[in-house]
Amino acid sequence: MVAVQAFDTFLTERGIPFRIDEPLGPFTTMKVGGPADFLIEPRTPEDLAAAFRAARECDVPVRLLGSGANLLIRDAGVRGAVLRLTHLNRRDGLHVQAGYNFAKLVKETAAEGLSGLECLAGIPAQVGGAIRMNAGGRHGETAAAVAYVDVMTPIGEIRRLTRDQVGFRYRGTALGDAVVLAAGFDLRPGEGMRERYEDVLNQKKASQPLGTHNAGCMFKNPPGGQAGRIIDECGLKGLRVGNAHVSERHANFIENDGGATAADILTLVEQIQRRAPVPLELEVLVW
Ligand code: EPU
Repeated sequence: MVAVQAFDTFLTERGIPFRIDEPLGPFTTMKVGGPADFLIEPRTPEDLAAAFRAARECDVPVRLLGSGANLLIRDAGVRGAVLRLTHLNRRDGLHVQAGYNFAKLVKETAAEGLSGLECLAGIPAQVGGAIRMNAGGRHGETAAAVAYVDVMTPIGEIRRLTRDQVGFRYRGTALGDAVVLAAGFDLRPGEGMRERYEDVLNQKKASQPLGTHNAGCMFKNPPGGQAGRIIDECGLKGLRVGNAHVSERHANFIENDGGATAADILTLVEQIQRRAPVPLELEVLVW
């Protein structure tokens, strides 16, 4: 408790914006989840480093929240500090800070006639989250368009990593505790980028429940299969627990009809896993 007070005092003295007991549901696309002890929005990398240092000294655990698009927060919320890099949201050419809206970047670069990100149309994310999760789909993944990633280590050091050093894999990286500060993208002039972008976006609109409260695909595709098809073939579309149900449009999505709890969603997840013929691993992070 003393440590928490010390942390509070430190943030206040340093002028780092924060809120206490802030409900996190509104910061996620699923609109579910309890509060964070501290929600912190550093204005600069220096403030971020200072917040990290103070958190370590005060023994306060820290988590990074992006656009909340691939995340399920439990009803009890999270202890410690949740950081949002909303203020680190500048774009200078192809160098883009972590808090920049990734969907906007994808749209802008396609409109600028640059090739590399157009295949990622319609992915809700911040740049930092898209990098960390190696966001992607049928048409490609983020890793392919990355030149370098600037990270901050938990002791506040800033390092520039080459794409290989990031250790990209299917829906993940080897970044561990390091925080993405910015990324440099490797995009080349291309023909018909705007049309390709529209195409990918329209395919997505036709096959996914965009515009409802969901966290994207709940499960990773298992080796050689597609979670959506597998869940569909089990006849689980429409399966409901409380105010959450398996999407009728795409079976790898769970929709919150309003007022669903994290417990509802996790029960639904278990029911799906129990009935699927192969192991399904969550793609969505659970806090
Ligand atoms: N399918 C069904 N029933 C369904 C859903 C899908 O039969 O309810 C079938 C489709 O007809 C298709 C196959 O399953 O033949 C694959 O479906 P889809 O093309 O939608 O691709 P996906 O493998 O389910 C992946 C990504 C999505 C991404 C799309 C499109 C994963 C886990 N999912 O989905 O990513 O948007 O490709 O590029 O890798 C996400 O990561 O949150 C996400 C939604």
